[in-house]
Amino acid sequence: MSRALISPSVLSADFARLGEEAARVAGHADWLHVDVMDNHFVPNLTLGLPVVESLLRATATPVDCHLMIADPDRWAPAYAEAGAGSVTFHVEAATAPVKLARTLRGLGARAGMGLRPATPVEPYVDLLPELDMLLVMTVEPGFGGQGFLDVVLPKLRRCREAVDRSGADVWLQVDGGVSLETVERCAEAGADVFVAGSAVYGATDPAAAVDGLRAAALAARAG
Ligand code: DX5
Ligand code: ZN
Repeated sequence: MSRALISPSVLSADFARLGEEAARVAGHADWLHVDVMDNHFVPNLTLGLPVVESLLRATATPVDCHLMIADPDRWAPAYAEAGAGSVTFHVEAATAPVKLARTLRGLGARAGMGLRPATPVEPYVDLLPELDMLLVMTVEPGFGGQGFLDVVLPKLRRCREAVDRSGADVWLQVDGGVSLETVERCAEAGADVFVAGSAVYGATDPAAAVDGLRAAALAARAG
């Protein structure tokens, strides 16, 4: 497996200039990660559907919506309808994750399911064929710029094994504290989609930061 996709999180970008911030990584980023927070599922409030709709009009880079919201069963499909290429809901918040994943796929989006750091993957292994992506949070969701939680790495390895055993082509995404310092550990443990907020938008050259992260992930995979 040689996939290493980089999804910069615009949470660390300037929200007043989102179109320009997207353009700074265009042609380098594989996806653009958008963190939707509702101040219920996580103790922070960011943006919602109208902003995502505007961003979709402003960029050709596919948009990866990470919904840190309560009741995704109700709210997530609209992001797929709007044209987000990937929509990730949190399993801790979903009532009917299989139904929701099928709805998202039916609307043409990739269906992602997120796990907080303390949420085990084992109860959800049978759901993997319903998903296009499994998101393993490597910080507690809610804020950018937090320290990477090494404690999640054993679960990440178990997720990789479960995905491989399932035979389904499920991408394995890591999100939180991913930087040049930690991306290799994530790649070695089996991640193939890497979200990075501060490591990209905190850099003087965000496009170069994206390329650097991808190169480091691929090198770790080869080593
Ligand atoms: C946190 C968000 C992340 C955040 C990552 O809840 O889901 O996407 O932007 O930021 P960094 O890369 O700075 O940890
Ligand atoms: Zn995120």
